[in-house]
Amino acid sequence: MLQNLDMHQLNETVAFIQSRTSLQPIAGIILGSGLGGLVNDLDIELSLPYEEIPHFPVSTVKGHGGKLLFGKLNQQPVVMLSGRFHYYEGYNMQEVTYPVRVMKQLGASVLFVSNAAGGMNPDFKVGDLMIINDHINLFPEHPLRGKNDEQMGPRFPDMTEPYSHKLIQSAKKIAESQQIHVHEGIYIGLQGPTFETKAEYKYLRVIGGDTVGMSTVPEVIVAKHMGMDVFGMSVVTDLGIRDEMNVITHEEVLEAAQAAAPKMALIVKELIATL
Ligand code: HPA
Repeated sequence: MLQNLDMHQLNETVAFIQSRTSLQPIAGIILGSGLGGLVNDLDIELSLPYEEIPHFPVSTVKGHGGKLLFGKLNQQPVVMLSGRFHYYEGYNMQEVTYPVRVMKQLGASVLFVSNAAGGMNPDFKVGDLMIINDHINLFPEHPLRGKNDEQMGPRFPDMTEPYSHKLIQSAKKIAESQQIHVHEGIYIGLQGPTFETKAEYKYLRVIGGDTVGMSTVPEVIVAKHMGMDVFGMSVVTDLGIRDEMNVITHEEVLEAAQAAAPKMALIVKELIATL
């Protein structure tokens, strides 16, 4: 794939998908590691393995499904990405964010993103949920670097409200009515694949982060470039807090995410109904 976004390729991808389904998604949903359970609530109309979609990247990490799903979630037409593309896998930023471009071209005006994340806010515990209200981009490469296509979005996108205030307010109301405890805070995105050292965790806290992970920020930037509204949530799967830090494995991250996933799914499902 080219470094620059190729509109011709994007049009081919979208035309292929539209030849397979007439469903017009109003929202796109990207499921994070261990958070794929929301798929079970989707009334699936079409499931497309990535390999079958022209110009779509193909996923490599085990535990990541690798399908683009179309259907109704709580009566609303949505497209779901089951198995996201991480920068640490070796994809370039255009590949990491390609599914978001596709979702928007298919009609989605809202993007939902979720992630498993490390928590460095001392009030957080493993299994807690955090609504993302802002982010800090520490990826070494920017998804909008390169020639800008004005049809897609502006050269210098505004980022004063990366996560929709309106959706955050609605989500907090939903959480309260369902008696689900949620935090609100800042997600820091970096490349991985190493988890953080103690010194890095300390630094990430000092610069203002509440959670940290290896995804989300590139997709959100591209969604904002195209004028989408975004809602994001982290599930805290491990802690980077002094005295509470343990050795972390990918398996533990997946396990903690899976345990908290039903609560997050409930919030997303209810939120989708408000669109
Ligand atoms: N750091 C980065 N990514 C993560 C973490 C973490 O601690 N936990 C889950 N994903």
